[in-house]
Parts: sequence; structure tokens; C-alpha cells
Amino acid sequence: MFHSILEKRRSIRKFENKAVEAEKIDLLVEAALRSPSSRGFNPWEFVVVTDPGLIKQLAKTKAAGSSWMENAPLAFVICGDPEKSDVWIEDTSIATTIIHLAAASLGLGSCWIQIRERAHNDTKPAETYIQEILNMPSRLKILSMIAIGYPGEEKAGHPKSELLFEKVSFNGYGQKQ
Ligand SMILES: Cc1cc2nc3c(=O)[nH]c(=O)nc-3n(C[C@H](O)[C@H](O)[C@H](O)COP(=O)(O)O)c2cc1C
Repeated sequence: MFHSILEKRRSIRKFENKAVEAEKIDLLVEAALRSPSSRGFNPWEFVVVTDPGLIKQLAKTKAAGSSWMENAPLAFVICGDPEKSDVWIEDTSIATTIIHLAAASLGLGSCWIQIRERAHNDTKPAETYIQEILNMPSRLKILSMIAIGYPGEEKAGHPKSELLFEKVSFNGYGQKQ
């Protein structure tokens, strides 16, 4: 079951004009909060956005790589508190991945939007732009957003024959099975 989700998983950037049901949003929130974190410190926080006006503003976060989210019915902003954990980047990355996979398991498409280390424009970091829109405290670092909705595009999963098995060694670097 889980393997077939992995086989089909792709990043989806086009969405049907259809809201994500509250029950599914609840399941995505639950999935995010079930993410593993180093030493169980749970340094992440999530802002769930369904307001179309806010999503349109968030779509303008980056000059490239975020505009496609303007018609998404749902977005999660994934942030972490460096005061709570020195590995908040790993923890928030795992949470983003879990939301992406949980969305796929619910028949939803989604795609990661990188925020950490990205710029809104020449003078403003992408993070600051989002913090201002969502009234977020600056102590919270923003790793990513993930835009979610019913898929409006069909993409085949990556064929097994195209996976990069040459990147894998067994019992010693470079050793093949
Ligand atoms: C760390 C990370 C950052 C990403 N940032 C963006 C982004 O800012 N905008 C975007 O459209 N896609 C982004 N993606 C999605 C990738 O482009 C996508 O996963 C990749 O092209 C492979 O396609 P697939 O997920 O369909 O297999 C990101 C993915 C990851 C894992």
C-alpha cells in the first residue's frame, strides 16, 4: 500500500478548482504532528492556509518556483524554532515530506516550495515576506511551504528502470550486489 504511493508519487503544481475537505485537512495536520523529530523536541510549527487571498499573496513569495501555487486551495507553511532544536532543519524537512506523502495517500497532489535560504527580492528574504503576511514571530524560521489540492495534472510515477541504482553500494562504498 505505502510502496504503491511511493511508486506513484510526483510533485503536483496544478490543482482542480475544488476545496480540500476539512476532514482531509485534519488528517494532514495529524500526519504533520506525528512526524519524528530529534530527541522528540518537536521544534516545528505549521500555519495552515485556506484563505484564497493569502494563498495568492504567498504565491508571490519568490520570483521563480512559487507562482504556480496561486490557485491551490490549501497550503502549509512549515517552520521551526532553532531555540528548541539545533536540528530543526532536519525535523522540518521530515515534516514537509510526511505532509507530501500523506497528501498523496489521501488522493491529493502537492509540491514543496523552498523558503529557507531563498529571496523574495533583492532586499527581502522569502522568509520575511511570509512572516509579514502571516503575522509570524521572527524567532520562527521558515523552511518550506507545501501547496496542496486535488491534482489538476497527471504525471506518471518515476519508472523503476530510471531509478539511479548506481548511487547505491552494499557493505562498502562502490561495492555492488
Ligand atoms: C528541498 C526541495 C525544494 C523544492 N523546492 C521547490 C520549489 O521551490 N518550487 C517548486 O516548484 N518545486 C520545488 N521542489 C520540487 C522539486 O522540483 C521536485 O521534487 C523535483 O523536480 C522532482 O520531481 P518529482 O517530485 O515529481 O519527482 C522542491 C523539492 C525539494 C525536495
